Amino acid sequence: MSALIPVVVAYHSGYGHTARQASAVAEGAASVPGVRAGLRDVSTLDESLWEALAEAEAIVFGSPTYMGATSAVFQRFAEASAPVWAARGWQGKLAAGFTNSAGVNGNKDNALLSMTVLAAQHGMNWVPLGLVPGWIYSSGGSPEDLNRMGSFVGAMAQSPSDLGPDRSPSDADLRTARHLGEHVARTALRFVHGREAAAHPAVTA
Ligand SMILES: Cc1cc2nc3c(=O)[nH]c(=O)nc-3n(C[C@H](O)[C@H](O)[C@H](O)COP(=O)(O)O)c2cc1C
Repeated sequence: MSALIPVVVAYHSGYGHTARQASAVAEGAASVPGVRAGLRDVSTLDESLWEALAEAEAIVFGSPTYMGATSAVFQRFAEASAPVWAARGWQGKLAAGFTNSAGVNGNKDNALLSMTVLAAQHGMNWVPLGLVPGWIYSSGGSPEDLNRMGSFVGAMAQSPSDLGPDRSPSDADLRTARHLGEHVARTALRFVHGREAAAHPAVTA
């Protein structure tokens, strides 16, 4: 197989914090040989967005947590995907998600869970973060640990409300986001190779 496998990060960010997390996810995906990563801001709903998502093997959804849910702009994108839903355009693709908010908790889980429902509505296969929780689980841990927010469903980040996107999310949260991108990309590789092997089973005597 020669073509690079496309992984697309489809995100919204009101003030730039979640955009940093999105870039880290894309960087992680692009670090896997055989994969190319795209970064799409869903505040612009144009033909090129839908084309990029149609072509993607995996879509990683990202939104800030606003009022304990995904942002209105992200939700507008989710609703605008209804024609794709009707055509089953994303059926069988991989999906994953990330969110960022000011609170350590801030109801980030609710934003991630709504992304899993969006993916399930489209018939996509959800790829979880794939990390054990960080420092909270161990007295010897540190807030610099990967997955310091202790999420299973997707990548979480925290940006204190008085820090700009130049200073937050933290390095640990950006490394966690990078991990998510890499993990999704490796899963996409296995997924595509597995599908090709299933389509062309080896002939055995
Ligand atoms: C309208 C609005 C609602 C928010 N609601 C929450 C919330 O429910 N929980 C939380 O922890 N932070 C909340 N925040 C803080 C943002 O999640 C936080 O500032 C985040 O870093 C913004 O990301 P962005 O720069 O990508 O937009 C809210 C911010 C705004 C503007």
